[in-house]
Amino acid sequence: MMKRPLIKNIEDLKETGQLRSNLIMVTSALAGEGKSFTAANMAMSMATELDHRVLLVDADVARPSLARMLGFEADQGLLDVLQDRVALQDVLLATNVEKLSVLPSGMPRPGATELLASDSMRRLLEDLASRYSDRIIIFDSPPLLLTTEAGVLASQMGQIVVVVKADDTSQADVQRALAGIASHPVKLMVLNRVHAKMMRGTGYGYAYGYGYGSVEDA
Ligand SMILES: Nc1ncnc2c1ncn2[C@@H]1O[C@H](COP(=O)(O)OP(=O)(O)O)[C@@H](O)[C@H]1O
Ligand SMILES: [Mg+2]
Repeated sequence: MMKRPLIKNIEDLKETGQLRSNLIMVTSALAGEGKSFTAANMAMSMATELDHRVLLVDADVARPSLARMLGFEADQGLLDVLQDRVALQDVLLATNVEKLSVLPSGMPRPGATELLASDSMRRLLEDLASRYSDRIIIFDSPPLLLTTEAGVLASQMGQIVVVVKADDTSQADVQRALAGIASHPVKLMVLNRVHAKMMRGTGYGYAYGYGYGSVEDA
């Protein structure tokens, strides 16, 4: 359900000359809300179905988790590209999902998060948006309220997905996070980890329960 509006935006925004709509940032107010889970599942879902190729980037460089989540090991990645130690093509990993590749974060290091707000990152995003314009690029990113760099990154993305952990993150924190990206034109929100008992009588039930998986999984 989440991928539809994102894919539609890519097509619609391209027509209006918005060239970066293929750059999708997955973020949240705080840590542990489900950014990596959402980014990885969405990337896989898009890659299995579409004509598009998908690149999943582990940009939560202080707390990278895609390698563990997807079961691979990689010493080098985004941070090394940003520090000009290695070329992008040399650190992209193929996966067993044919159209899905992954850019790992690289080993955590001092100043890692700051690199996300650097000129080098700005150039990489420009390059990705133009050279890889036929790919959907999903960035598993740091939380908005815990790093100022996430806001800088957001300003350079085509679309932003804000994951909110249901019944956990306070409304005030969500509002503060959204205030930080208020000027961004394309934002979508995901209410994650909604339990069946929260959904009773709310109208969510039909939507989540329909199709694959159970309500408890949503
Ligand atoms: N919808 C979900 N259903 C089940 N488990 C989830 C869901 N969303 C997140 N999790 C689990 O919760 C934990 C935190 O999620 P994660 O994606 O790592 O958060 P973040 O990247 O925002 O820090 C992980 O163990 C993840 O597998
Ligand atoms: Mg994460």
